[in-house]
Amino acid sequence: MNKKLRNELIARANHAKETSYSPYSQFRVGAAVLTDDGTIFEGCNVENASYGLAICAERNAIFQAAHAGKRKITAVAVTSDEKTFITPCGACRQVIAEFADGSTDIILSTKEGKSKIVKFEKIFPTPPKLEKLKKK
Ligand code: THU
Repeated sequence: MNKKLRNELIARANHAKETSYSPYSQFRVGAAVLTDDGTIFEGCNVENASYGLAICAERNAIFQAAHAGKRKITAVAVTSDEKTFITPCGACRQVIAEFADGSTDIILSTKEGKSKIVKFEKIFPTPPKLEKLKKK
């Protein structure tokens, strides 16, 4: 991934964070996903008074891409207002695994502009393989 694209994805994740609906946690998260045709989709976290119904920024962005007909994700950027990196939760890793492979870039960034890239296989080395549920 070149630096320009990495910075663009981080900028888009930051843009998405601006619309975070997080009145319960006050924890704003933004995500941007890159699909194999070069399109970028944004998502923010959206919470609910029934707390467990909150959706993470990463899944929101991925579902927007899926809705647009995209089926292959090559990078996911995530950012928050923290000084330290936040990484996708377990549920989001499982959803990323549906549309990504081990070589997908996960771009972590902080409010202060620090960033690093990890390969998806590093944070989700053994995605469950459901042999009976083959994709058609
Ligand atoms: N959250 C995300 O959107 N992505 C993450 O990677 C971690 C957590 C959201 C869920 C909830 O709205 C808030 O952050 C606090 O957990």
